[in-house]
Amino acid sequence: MTNPEFIARQSRRPTGLLGVLVARVMARETRPENERALQLLNLADGDRLIDIGCGHGETLFSANAMVRLSDSAGVDFSGVMLRRARARNRDAVWDTRMTFHCADTSELPFSDNRFDKALSVHTIYFWSDPSAHIAEAFRVLRPGGTFVLCYRSTADKRAVNGFPDTVYRFPNIQQVEEAFCRVGYRPPDTLTETIAGRLTHWSVAVKPERMDSNAG
Ligand SMILES: C[S@@+](CC[C@H](N)C(=O)[O-])C[C@H]1O[C@@H](n2cnc3c(N)ncnc32)[C@H](O)[C@@H]1O
Repeated sequence: MTNPEFIARQSRRPTGLLGVLVARVMARETRPENERALQLLNLADGDRLIDIGCGHGETLFSANAMVRLSDSAGVDFSGVMLRRARARNRDAVWDTRMTFHCADTSELPFSDNRFDKALSVHTIYFWSDPSAHIAEAFRVLRPGGTFVLCYRSTADKRAVNGFPDTVYRFPNIQQVEEAFCRVGYRPPDTLTETIAGRLTHWSVAVKPERMDSNAG
């Protein structure tokens, strides 16, 4: 059964009281995918991490509990999500090691090479031009930095049939991997797994150390 369009729109950008509820449900529901993304990032003390389309902020909370991040940032264009994310991470926000920013993820408010690691989970469906967002992640990562993008794809008919195509656009793995290569990453490795009953992909891409070659 397809989710109603108004619920799908809330997932794309939560607003109002319904958005508060959606944020709470999403924080619980997407935890397994986010935890796997954090594992794939191999976080270490001192890392600088960005969560692109961070939503509720649970993932940065977990990351910060796993290691001592020196700098971390969440970006989202939903005020509801950002309020929840800041409240959830109030201690790290207070001591300024973690910041949250209201922005479109196609224009990240950071200088080049600022982060060591980046992740983005269940966001690509809402990007009209995914390459623009993937390129922004590339710009803010340092050479050698890693980006993990997590998504469901056209391979999962339950996903495709479960959400209105007026809001959700599911990619296929090849499209995602090509987009990574086009903007300059090394060819990504994509892990596919059924997690919490959902067929899910994590494309792990590294920004080359030497910018004049993407052959590694
Ligand atoms: C389905 S939620 C996923 C949230 C979180 N990453 C997770 O895994 O639970 C998608 C999030 O991406 C944000 N988002 C979608 N498109 C965005 C854009 N172009 N710029 C900034 N945030 C965006 C939404 O506001 C929402 O919080």
